[in-house]
Amino acid sequence: MKEGVLSTSSRIEGMGVSKILQLAQAARELRANGVSVIDLSAGQPDFDTPDNVKSAAKAAIDAGQTRYTALDGTAEMKDAVREKFRRDNNLSYERNEVMVGAGAKQLIFNAFMATLDAGDEVILPTPCWLSYFDIVKIAGAKPVAVSGQLEAGYKITPDQLRKAITPKSRWILLNSPSNPSGAVYSAAELAALLEVIADHPRLWVMADDVYEHIRFGDTPFATPAAIRPDLKQRILTVNAVSKAFAMTGWRLGYAGGAPELIRAMSVVQSQSTSNPCSVSQAAAVEALTGPQGFLDTARTAYARRRDILINGVSAIDGIEARAPEGSFFAFVRITDLLERQTPDGTILPDDNAVSDYLLDKAKVVTVPGSEFGLPGHLRLSFAVADTDLSLAVERMKTALDALQPVKEPAQ
Ligand SMILES: Cc1ncc(COP(=O)(O)O)c(C=O)c1O
Repeated sequence: MKEGVLSTSSRIEGMGVSKILQLAQAARELRANGVSVIDLSAGQPDFDTPDNVKSAAKAAIDAGQTRYTALDGTAEMKDAVREKFRRDNNLSYERNEVMVGAGAKQLIFNAFMATLDAGDEVILPTPCWLSYFDIVKIAGAKPVAVSGQLEAGYKITPDQLRKAITPKSRWILLNSPSNPSGAVYSAAELAALLEVIADHPRLWVMADDVYEHIRFGDTPFATPAAIRPDLKQRILTVNAVSKAFAMTGWRLGYAGGAPELIRAMSVVQSQSTSNPCSVSQAAAVEALTGPQGFLDTARTAYARRRDILINGVSAIDGIEARAPEGSFFAFVRITDLLERQTPDGTILPDDNAVSDYLLDKAKVVTVPGSEFGLPGHLRLSFAVADTDLSLAVERMKTALDALQPVKEPAQ
């Protein structure tokens, strides 16, 4: 290696800082230059953390809870997690079956690092959160995308899953409600997938339930371990206070699963971050066991915003929008906009170009579907103030209505 020239590991080959962070940065720069930008790329609630949770954190600081804690979470936090799983999900876990980490992401990272080897495969129903792909790759394994299209409500079928399973399949990741599609699997749909999984003892299930509380339809929330208690020993249920309680910055997630998996995950965490933040744990105990009214307040606001966004974009020519049943994202198909021409004569070949055009002309930040493994789409966040959403829709309509179909060359 030449002195001063960085040689990065093959582990992170081809990976960059996520496009979403780049977009957020572009929006910040435009704003700093006085441009009015509306950011629909946000992956986090725009609400403040509830006051009772903030007070619990302040009390913890004053009480001196500022030292290392048990590696995998304080006893109080683990018991709060157990209580939450029992109350909300009808799931019973012992203390040695739960683990607390710095966000859901760390639990996912721990689990994949602790269990995957080169050649192993992880089945990822797409569209999905891009981090799953990169974490699987960092762990040395291979992501296998199985695509749910708009017509299927962006969900995968048991048949698709059966075809994707090989002797190397080690995990399938189920995220419902989904980022980015907002799709929610019903208990019956999950049961049908679990029936396939039951036949493959080496295949484990990771249930990423971080959007559990952000749901709008009548479909009750369902989580795999509660549906198939007989498979609970190979299901890791991951959740976090991040999205539910507007606590993304506190970095606090948790998981329930088999004791041997939790032990292996603790090994990874012990040599990376050690315990999650002591103050955040105290705050999360209050979030999980204190008054739960914030969840309804937030849900009502998201439902209203979802309607503003979906009604608005559905009226734009070239956009096909399906109302999401959960999460704070709408995933809209824009294949009809591709190959159209901008007023200055540029052809828009793909979702990245449409997203760039919207930033340039409408000053609205959107995330291309390619970022989630399903090109030809845009993800629009509605964790944004109502007035901003209405304005964003107006601006998008003006910019997209200005596109022209490319004329066929004369014969
Ligand atoms: C599906 C999904 N899982 C996990 C996370 C990460 O959650 P946390 O902030 O708790 O690490 C996100 C964040 O965007 C997400 O969208």
